[in-house]
Amino acid sequence: MRMTSRRRLIAGNWKMNGRLESAAALGAGLIEGLANRQDLQALDWLICPPFVHLKTLGDLLEQSRQKIPGLAMKLGAQDVSAAEDGAYTGEISAEMLRDCGCSAVLIGHSERRQYFSESETLIAQKLKRAIDAGFLAVLCVGESEQERGKGLTRAVIDKQIELLLNLWPVSSHQAALGPCATQDLQAQRGVHMALANHQPGVGDTNARAEWASRLVIAYEPVWAIGTGKSASPDDAQQVHAFIRDRLDQAGWPSSSIRILYGGSVKADNAQALFGMPDVDGALVGGASLQATSFLDIGQAAVRHR
Ligand code: PGA
Repeated sequence: MRMTSRRRLIAGNWKMNGRLESAAALGAGLIEGLANRQDLQALDWLICPPFVHLKTLGDLLEQSRQKIPGLAMKLGAQDVSAAEDGAYTGEISAEMLRDCGCSAVLIGHSERRQYFSESETLIAQKLKRAIDAGFLAVLCVGESEQERGKGLTRAVIDKQIELLLNLWPVSSHQAALGPCATQDLQAQRGVHMALANHQPGVGDTNARAEWASRLVIAYEPVWAIGTGKSASPDDAQQVHAFIRDRLDQAGWPSSSIRILYGGSVKADNAQALFGMPDVDGALVGGASLQATSFLDIGQAAVRHR
């Protein structure tokens, strides 16, 4: 029996796969599976199809929610613009995503970092935009094989979550301290300056709880994504515990923030991963493209509730 109130989340990242017809069929298969396997409704589910399939899936989910009470499946996008609106050719705003039925978004997936040169600053801006817009934001972090080989896993993840830690709304007390009293606050001010629209100093307990409830972190070692080589449950647990500690040190209510593992998760390795105390679910790529394999990963999580 798990000693935490964190509800497990099983998220599917469909990446740039499928066509409209196959995406609709996959969505329908998942909804049908959830309707028939009531125990799977004890989990939270999230699907992240390509942008152009979102509206179709959003409409499908909306109709299904009327027929299936308590259907715990959210629709998410794989990315979002850091800007609210305006002259940003090719970008998609959070409000446009909302119009399609989205309430969640992946931020900083390693493929965005690697192939589209997304910087830590841009990722932090996107994260802030998503959270401010009321979305569930899944921030992806993880080290490359080379970094792991050099023993840099923690250092890399620390850097990836540093901007996030500094985005945390500061308390009125901290804001009133004037000149930065601590190194952390100094860093915080630096990020606030970099993020043009940020309003520091308004944080209070409610604002912090609100932010925390919209944040999910996904630990996805780059070497494990799409390779069939998953991190061992012990390795994943160590990194998850490290992330939770860092959140804790920065004043986030770390015990209520979900940390997912991602990277070659399949039904047969999911069970051991879900046996770890700090693994709160999975971000699944390849195995989310078939309804049965995705639902079976959830089934493994149900066994470890
Ligand atoms: P994978 O992808 O499950 O195919 O390894 C995971 C991800 O990229 O989110």
